[in-house]
Amino acid sequence: MSNPLFARKSVEMLLDEAKDDNRLRRVLGPVQLTALGIGAIIGAGIFVATGAAAHNIAGPSLMLSYVVAGITCIFAALCYAEFAAMVPVAGSAYTYAYATLGELFAWIIGWDLILEYGVSSAAVATGWSAYFQSAIGKLGIHIPQLLAESPWKYDPATGLFASTGAVMNLPALVIVAIITAILVKGIQESATFNGVMVAIKVAAVLFVIGVGAFFINTTNWHPFAPFGWTGISFFGHHVAGMTDGGGQPIGMLAGAAIIFFAYIGFDSVSTHAEEARNPQRDVPIGIMVSLLVCTVLYIAVVAVLTGMVKFDQLDIHAPVSTAFQQKGLGWAEGLIATAGVAGITSVLLVMMLSGPRVFLAMARDGLLPKATFGDVHPKFRTPWKSTILVGCFVGLLAGFLPIDALLHLANIGTLLAFVIVCMAVLVMRKKHPETHRPFRCPWVPFVPVMGVLTCLMLMFSLPVANWWRLIAWLALGMVIYFAYGRRHSVLAKMRAQKP
Ligand code: ALA
Repeated sequence: MSNPLFARKSVEMLLDEAKDDNRLRRVLGPVQLTALGIGAIIGAGIFVATGAAAHNIAGPSLMLSYVVAGITCIFAALCYAEFAAMVPVAGSAYTYAYATLGELFAWIIGWDLILEYGVSSAAVATGWSAYFQSAIGKLGIHIPQLLAESPWKYDPATGLFASTGAVMNLPALVIVAIITAILVKGIQESATFNGVMVAIKVAAVLFVIGVGAFFINTTNWHPFAPFGWTGISFFGHHVAGMTDGGGQPIGMLAGAAIIFFAYIGFDSVSTHAEEARNPQRDVPIGIMVSLLVCTVLYIAVVAVLTGMVKFDQLDIHAPVSTAFQQKGLGWAEGLIATAGVAGITSVLLVMMLSGPRVFLAMARDGLLPKATFGDVHPKFRTPWKSTILVGCFVGLLAGFLPIDALLHLANIGTLLAFVIVCMAVLVMRKKHPETHRPFRCPWVPFVPVMGVLTCLMLMFSLPVANWWRLIAWLALGMVIYFAYGRRHSVLAKMRAQKP
């Protein structure tokens, strides 16, 4: 018998399993799936991270950084869409890896997805806290400094954490607790809540573009790339472009590696495949439409922002709303800050919805304890125990770690997942060309190969400490897999029973 570490689940097996009881409700149509995608995408990235990225890393060329990151995501999205249509069950990239690369890779990617969704959620909750505090600040309400931010601040110059004097980021913790409670209650309610939030934030973004366009001064776009066009390092060794005082890469490409965060989330549409009414058609639609809409909006927002305010005068905490205040439109500032809070809330909702679904898929396969991670609530039909566990994990990270460290780690984890999914498309096409593919990624192998290369390029443009953190996380995952998952794997048991 072949090595069980590389045992694969067949597509037929996955589709059969999806007919079992104890499955999630199929309630989501194409519009709701696209809204979930947009809900997961537009958030702290554009509303918060854009400020520091333009200010310190890319200047007005951040517009192009968004184009580069968007194109990278489109390559990966086409690969996700092929899999999501072929294997429309919960679990996303984890399930795709199980069907193509085998159990060990599936574990690695599942474990990596938990990092992606968990750490992204924490970064978003921290960004939410910043916007929330800026919005209530307009009303003269201030959270005491001790409870207003993380106790540590990441210093990019040294790569170390320094004390801020605060005890915890209380607003971030509270929002995580509220979202966890909503998610335990159920997907239908969550999708409705998400729909309202998405409408508010898309309106806010259109407002920023439509009104801000009248305040563009094109001289603000010069110099266009003050920090250069590249900014790549390889495990801490500088390869191309400029560096900041701490030796970290800066420039247009380095900007793309940071604001890649703004695109994280489109892949979460695929984790809802099992809740989609017609997953083969609607999940690819949800992924591609949400990604394309957001790419266009982002580029327009950055063009407007850097045109309104000189890049080195952009605020780094709440850049979008503050730009309007800098132009004397105080009334618009409050409006945008409030919409920003709503927008970032919907991101948190979808991000925190996705992690427990990956756990659910892993538990069903016996790789994690089923009684905890595989338990679907009898009344709410939600994976309630793992939702609460993920809530605790996210709350801890959000309450005690700073946004930039979280953001970089979320990016590298997500980029790794994209690399594996792009490779898995190539493997599956070669090994199983006959499998029915309701959606086919175009121009294979060009698109998946470009997906792998562009994701790796962005990974190498991130500060090197993130590689070590990623490796440490994956090593912990390996320990759990060999101590638990491998011994309890349902697939391994089935194979052992076969004559
Ligand atoms: N793309 C998400 C955001 O920007 C994670 O908040």
